[in-house]
Amino acid sequence: MYQQVKAILAEVQSGPPNILKALLAVQERLGHVPVEVVPGIARALETTTAQVAGVLSYYPDLRVTAPGRHLIRVCMGESCYANGCGRLLRELQDRLRADVGETTSGGRFTLDTMSCAGNCAVSPTLLVDRDLYGRVLPSQLETLLERYR
Ligand code: FES
Repeated sequence: MYQQVKAILAEVQSGPPNILKALLAVQERLGHVPVEVVPGIARALETTTAQVAGVLSYYPDLRVTAPGRHLIRVCMGESCYANGCGRLLRELQDRLRADVGETTSGGRFTLDTMSCAGNCAVSPTLLVDRDLYGRVLPSQLETLLERYR
């Protein structure tokens, strides 16, 4: 896996080594940052494993476990909060039987939250993978989730 990580980093790195940028690139390609690739990232960036592990543990958007086939993110920003994202999140937790950061049994969905998605005019906002949904009502979730197998 080291060669794969090295190739990813070669594509995205320019200028001084940027640990966060490197970790985001690895996550984009692999779906997560497996702990076992941390020493390889450190070696490729000519830094220490501790520094890479520190950045990895600091940013909540970086994940060390593989997500489900589809990643659901509920926006918890101010506008979405004022327009019912809490109800949306609770409905998803009940429906999926998963808490924030957890993956459903069978690996179909991972549930997560996010800060403002830039879609405030039609809040509350929900993202499934790269699909953005606005003005989402809890009653629409069943139909919406059926699109993702
Ligand atoms: S606060 Fe949710 S899209 Fe801006």
